[in-house]
Amino acid sequence: MDGCQLIGLLILCHLMATPALSINWIGLHRHWDSEFWNWTTLNSSSRQINNIKSTCWSAVRQKLLTKEQVKVCLQQPATMLSVWEAGQSSSQACRQAFAERRWNCSSIDFLPRKAPDLSHGTREQAWVYALTSAALTRAVARGCSSGILKQCACGSFPRHPPDGQFKWGGCGDDIKYAKQFAKSFTDASLKRHWKKPHVISAVNMHNNRVGRKVAEQSLQTQCKCHGVSGSCQIKTCWRSLPPIGEIASRMKMLYGLAVEVTPRRPNDMRRRSAVASGRLAQDLIYITKSPDFCRPDKQSGSLGTAGRMCNATHESSSGSCASLCCGRGYITVIREQVERCNCKYIWCCTVRCKTCRRQVEVHMCK
Ligand SMILES: *[C@@H]1O[C@H](CO)[C@@H](O)[C@H](O)[C@H]1NC(C)=O
Ligand SMILES: *[C@@H]1O[C@H](CO)[C@@H](O)[C@H](O)[C@H]1NC(C)=O
Ligand SMILES: *[C@@H]1O[C@H](CO)[C@@H](O)[C@H](O)[C@H]1NC(C)=O
Ligand SMILES: *[C@@H]1O[C@H](CO)[C@@H](O)[C@H](O)[C@H]1NC(C)=O
Repeated sequence: MDGCQLIGLLILCHLMATPALSINWIGLHRHWDSEFWNWTTLNSSSRQINNIKSTCWSAVRQKLLTKEQVKVCLQQPATMLSVWEAGQSSSQACRQAFAERRWNCSSIDFLPRKAPDLSHGTREQAWVYALTSAALTRAVARGCSSGILKQCACGSFPRHPPDGQFKWGGCGDDIKYAKQFAKSFTDASLKRHWKKPHVISAVNMHNNRVGRKVAEQSLQTQCKCHGVSGSCQIKTCWRSLPPIGEIASRMKMLYGLAVEVTPRRPNDMRRRSAVASGRLAQDLIYITKSPDFCRPDKQSGSLGTAGRMCNATHESSSGSCASLCCGRGYITVIREQVERCNCKYIWCCTVRCKTCRRQVEVHMCK
């Protein structure tokens, strides 16, 4: 801080003292107005250019973008549409995939505020970095094939000839460009830490790469029929990425199989090859054991499970009260559920329903 006081640029120093995490961009969708930040406005007049610039810089002040990432925002603003979308979709997919677990990914929505469970190099962090990298790869590939992004286009056709009665055609996803973009966007600010060896940065970069790879491995062949009345005389096919939910469920297996690595000396992880060698290349890796997430703990970012709704009827399900409540037991409350019922169609053209009230038992962890 001495240097900071000398210079007197307090704001700048503050920015440098606690730099944005390289995944804070996930939070863009909660801070950027979709009305402003959309294709129509981005594409329009030069009057908007200044607006875009100031929006980019305000994202840096809010710690949503790192100083490397803001370059993309300034130079290729349209790409931020894909980044925006990737943040939204990965946050949703993450919460969905872990809805019934003790750690349920809710901290992803705290970003850019501090999320300790996403900064110490845990298994959860590995999963979030990989998932968001995959989502970014997907969103950019989609931006390319839909024509929104001008710096890329359709993907090239696979080299192998199609098996079966079809031709490669249409517009496939440009996975190659998308991976390159995702890599530079997510890793640029991590590389900054190379100078003083930073194990967690190396781990994050590794997991980012695993995420991009899983996205690539999820490419699917999609086809369209042509011919008289859908006879499918000619079929053209292309390769595109599935919805993020599908990529997430592939990746969820890797969460369970994540490998703990122990750097013997800090410098060990300096070169990526040290962690990415051999078998580990396909695995998520972590360096810090996770807490059990049963009780709140500021240090580790555990929120605890008190008050979580659980499943009292199926002991073995992942959302069971037994596992979610960590043996503390649960309380049962009766809730009134209001729903529409006994609906009748009235000619013409309305549907009239009654309102039914139903008592349901809800179980919540103590
Ligand atoms: C995009 O911006 C235009 C102009 O501000 C607005 O009319 C439109 O509804 C916006 N679209 C979305 C999807 O937000
Ligand atoms: C965006 O701008 C390009 C030319 O600058 C134009 O060809 C295209 O139609 C515009 N798209 C929209 C959605 O306004
Ligand atoms: C996720 O877990 C946190 C902490 O246990 C809880 O506050 C939150 O309501 C949960 N979110 C959902 C959607 O269940
Ligand atoms: C409890 O789990 C079972 C099996 O997964 C499921 O069929 C049931 O709907 C769940 N009950 C509640 C209240 O979520």
